[in-house]
Amino acid sequence: MKKKILKKFKEIYKTEPVLFRAPGRINLIGEHTDYNEGFVFPAAIDKAILLAISFNDSEKASLYAYDLQESVEIDVKNSKKSDKQWANYILGVIDEFHKKGLNIRGFNCVFGGDIPLGAGLSSSAALESAFTYAFNSLHNFDIEKTEMIKMAQMAEVNFVGVNCGIMDQFISFRGQKNKALKLDCRTLEYEYKNIYLEGYSILLADTLVKHSLASGEYNIRRQQCEQGVEILRSLYPTVNSLRDINLEQLKKAKFNFTDIIYNRAKYVVEENQRVTNTAKYLENNNAKAFGQEIFKSHEGLSKLYEVSCPELDLLVELAKETDYVIGARMMGGGFGGCTINFVETEKRNEFKEKLSTAFKATFGHEPKFYDVNIENGAEEIK
Ligand code: GLA
Repeated sequence: MKKKILKKFKEIYKTEPVLFRAPGRINLIGEHTDYNEGFVFPAAIDKAILLAISFNDSEKASLYAYDLQESVEIDVKNSKKSDKQWANYILGVIDEFHKKGLNIRGFNCVFGGDIPLGAGLSSSAALESAFTYAFNSLHNFDIEKTEMIKMAQMAEVNFVGVNCGIMDQFISFRGQKNKALKLDCRTLEYEYKNIYLEGYSILLADTLVKHSLASGEYNIRRQQCEQGVEILRSLYPTVNSLRDINLEQLKKAKFNFTDIIYNRAKYVVEENQRVTNTAKYLENNNAKAFGQEIFKSHEGLSKLYEVSCPELDLLVELAKETDYVIGARMMGGGFGGCTINFVETEKRNEFKEKLSTAFKATFGHEPKFYDVNIENGAEEIK
């Protein structure tokens, strides 16, 4: 990948670029909790966005998207939205620098990557993070990491229109090799944790379903959580987010809610507790208890939060039938993409075959499998 991007850059621009990389992510557990000021437990992976970039002494940026073989020229002084969606991720980042009163100089760039799109592995956050990191570094702006993370997140909110939380950009910046990161999305305090359970490995199964509904439904879930907070605040005045409530309090307030809003809130409250539980089980290498929480997370995402789809549900059901997958659930925003599976290392191939056969019989195609290694966050590549 690195060689290809570098070669293309030299071919088009005939100069030496600087190279940067920002990774995609998995999430052990803690889904749709980030924008509710809750807990998440992601890890950065060895699939990433790579970009080659250098200044060109003009007021234009020339961008080449390697994987799409498309190019765009943009005015770096005027970050207007483009009709090319991929360019908006970058324009969104430039706009965040402008908001801080920081000018971006004209540049040439070739970028590409190996994070499958729409698979729930956060290719968009990786793209935003890579450019935020690169601009800061090339201009010597010296912006603090957490600030850059927020800028990358706001690029997505303002230019792409997904009112996302902070998890994906946070881990894309702060990932650490062989570690998962448990993040408190309220205080932004975080801890690195061992990610591995002895005898088990992580396998992703991609439904290859990319629902166009995803971003609209995502924003709706966020609004529904806010409605839940409103209702709770009228009963418990100190509540600012679903983080502030426990299951007992929620149950007592049930008659104030419609079923939908109650279910959304219940899922979030329970999922927060599950993140704390799983971190403990991981520490004690308690695979069984860990896996139970993972399955329950899926159940909640599917039945209460309603962000799953039949393809994801089938993959999790099939995992449940085995005695060698200790936990499986949908991962990321939902409505398609991948499941994350914790599988006895020795049984990986057996599991892949089982999923492929049954999934194909129902949906007409096989799922795609990814092995992931846990890697560092955004960095310059020397
Ligand atoms: C997407 C968003 C994240 C998070 C997840 C769901 O990946 O970008 O902020 O909300 O969905 O956990």
